[in-house]
Amino acid sequence: MCGIVAYLGKKQAYPLIVDGLRKLEYRGYDSSGVAVLDENLSVFKKKGKVNDLVNFVNKENGDTSGTIAMGHTRWATHGEPNDKNAHPHLSGNGEIALIHNGIIENYATLKNALIDLGHEFKSDTDTEVLVHLIEEIQKKGNLSIEDAVRKSLEKVVGAYAIVVIDKKSPDILIGARNSSPLVFGLGDDEFFLGSDASPIIKYTNKVIYLEDEDVITINRNGDYKIVNLQNKTSTHQIKELDLKIEELEKGGFDHFMLKEIYQQPATIEQSMRGRINAAEGWAILGGMSKHMNRISKSKRIILMACGTSWHSALIGEYLFEEIARIPTEVEYASEFRYRNPIITEDDFVIALSQSGETADTLAAIELAKEKGAFVYGIVNVVGSSIARLTDAGSYIHAGPEIGVASTKAFTSQVSILSLMALYLGHERGKISGGDYRELLTALEVIPQKVEEILDQNDHIKSIATEIKNASNALYLGRGYNFPVALEGALKLKEISYIHAEGYPAAEMKHGPIALIDMYMPVVVIATNQSAYEKIVSNIQEVKARKGIVIAIINEDDTIIREMADFFVEIPTTAEPLSPLLSVIPLQLLSYHIALMRGCNVDQPRNLAKSVTVE
Ligand code: G6P
Repeated sequence: MCGIVAYLGKKQAYPLIVDGLRKLEYRGYDSSGVAVLDENLSVFKKKGKVNDLVNFVNKENGDTSGTIAMGHTRWATHGEPNDKNAHPHLSGNGEIALIHNGIIENYATLKNALIDLGHEFKSDTDTEVLVHLIEEIQKKGNLSIEDAVRKSLEKVVGAYAIVVIDKKSPDILIGARNSSPLVFGLGDDEFFLGSDASPIIKYTNKVIYLEDEDVITINRNGDYKIVNLQNKTSTHQIKELDLKIEELEKGGFDHFMLKEIYQQPATIEQSMRGRINAAEGWAILGGMSKHMNRISKSKRIILMACGTSWHSALIGEYLFEEIARIPTEVEYASEFRYRNPIITEDDFVIALSQSGETADTLAAIELAKEKGAFVYGIVNVVGSSIARLTDAGSYIHAGPEIGVASTKAFTSQVSILSLMALYLGHERGKISGGDYRELLTALEVIPQKVEEILDQNDHIKSIATEIKNASNALYLGRGYNFPVALEGALKLKEISYIHAEGYPAAEMKHGPIALIDMYMPVVVIATNQSAYEKIVSNIQEVKARKGIVIAIINEDDTIIREMADFFVEIPTTAEPLSPLLSVIPLQLLSYHIALMRGCNVDQPRNLAKSVTVE
C-alpha cells in the first residue's frame, strides 16, 4: 500500500528511482511522483501508472539531474487519485519534500492549527500536513532537518513510513517508520530506502529493517544514524538478503499472476522442503518443534488473517480440528482487534500473511500477545514486520508474489497448515499411524498433481470464453472446499470485476438460489468424497433453475460430468488436501476471464498488494 523508494549516492538518481517505482508499483498504482535534488528541488507527479509519470517528465523535458532523489507510487487514502494529491508533497516554502505511506490520523487537528499559523495547502492529503508541520517546527526552533522531522513525528498519531529531502541539506536523506515498513539498503558509496527490498536488491543485498519509531539520517559520506523519537540511538543488525532479481521479473509469462499460478508445483514443493518425509514417516516444522511442549497443550487454536490469507485460515480450521483435534476458530484480524476477545495463555494463535505487513493482522497479533497467547506466524516475506513480531513461525518460501491477486501464497499457506496439523496431530496421538502415513504420502505428491491441472490451461480458457460476459457468478463448495469456493469467488471479483459470491453448497437454498437463472454461472467444487451425493443434489437444484454449471470433479467421476455444462477434471487426493488442487482451475478461470474482459490482471483497480493501513 503505497511504495516508497529513495536514493543517495554518486549516480544519477532519477533512472534508479523510476526503476524502483516499477518494482514497487504492485503496492499502489493510482498516481506516482518523484523529487530530485540538484541545485533545484524538482518535483514531478502524475495521476496513473509509473509510465504516465515517465511520459509526463519526458514531455515536459523536466530537469531530473541530481544524485539524491525519492519516488512514490500511491494507493489513495485521503484525497482522490489526481496529480495534486500524488506524492511527493512540498512545504510552503518549497524547500522540503516528503513521501509517505500510511495515514496521519490526527491530520485534521494539525491542519487547522497550521492554517491558523498561515499555512496554505494545495492537496487534500494528510501527508501534506506533515511536511508543513516539519517546516513550521524547523522554522520556530531553528532546528536541523533531522530534529525537525523527529519532533514533528512526536506530534503525529497514525502509521507512517516517510522519506524527507531538504533543499538546504543536499547531502542528507531522512527516513522514519511507525507501523508501515521501511528498509534501509547499504551499497558501495550509495544508500537506499524502500518500502521493501525489491527496488534495492539490484544494487545491494545488505539491509537494515527499520523498527517502529526509528528515524534514520543518512549522510552522503557514508555515516548513518538511527535514533528513536526521544533521540536515543538504536543499533540494528545489517542483514543479508537472499533474493534474486529474476524473482522480480515475469520470466517469459505475460503477467505476474500467470507466472505465479504456474510456479505452484515448485512453490508447494519448496514450502515442504526439509519438513516432510513420507518414506520415513515424519512431518516437522522447526518453528514449532522448539515450542511443541506449549503448543501441544493448547486448549484452542485461533487463526487470524485478512483477504486470501483468511481463506487459507478457514481451511486450517478444518485441518486442525480433524487431524489434531484441537478446537479452532478463525478471525478476521480487523474484527478481532476491535472487540474485546477472550484470549488466554492456553491459546495458540496463528497469524497468516503473505506480505507480513498487513496493518490489521499486525495489530491483532499485538493484542493476542498482550493477553498472553503464544503467537505463531505463517508468512512469506522474510524479515517482514509480522515475521519479526511473532513468537515463532514458519516461512512459506513462495518467493516474491507480485500479482495483486494472491495465488501461490495461498497454496503454500495451505501446505504449511497441513504440515502443522499433521505434526500436531501426531504429537498429540490424535491421528492413527495409517492415516498419518497416507496423508504424508498424499501431500508429497501434490506438486505433480498441480502440474497435471496446469496442463489443462487451454481447456479452462475455453470455459472462460463461455462465461466471460456474466454479470454475476456463484461458487459452491462443501467442507474443505467451502473456503475454496470463497477464494474462487474472490479471485473472480477482484480481477474481472464480475460480482461473485462463494457459498457453502447446502446454504444455497437459503438465499442465493433466488439469483439463479439461465445467465448465472455456478462453479461447483465437487471433489469431496464424503459429501458427494449431497453435492449432486445441489447441482440438480441449480440445473432445475437453468443455471450454468461449471463443475470441478475428480478424474474418476461418472455422475457429475453428465450433469454439468462444463467440467474440469482434477487428480484425486485425500480430502483434507483437496483445496491444494481444486483452487488451481479457479485461479486460471479468473485469470482468463479477466484478460478476455480487458482488465489489468496484475494491477486490478482500487486494490493494493500490501494493506498497511487499517
Ligand atoms: C490485500 C491483497 C490480498 C491479500 C490481503 C491480505 O487485500 O490484495 O491479496 O490476501 O491483502 O494480505 P496478506 O499480505 O496479509 O496476506
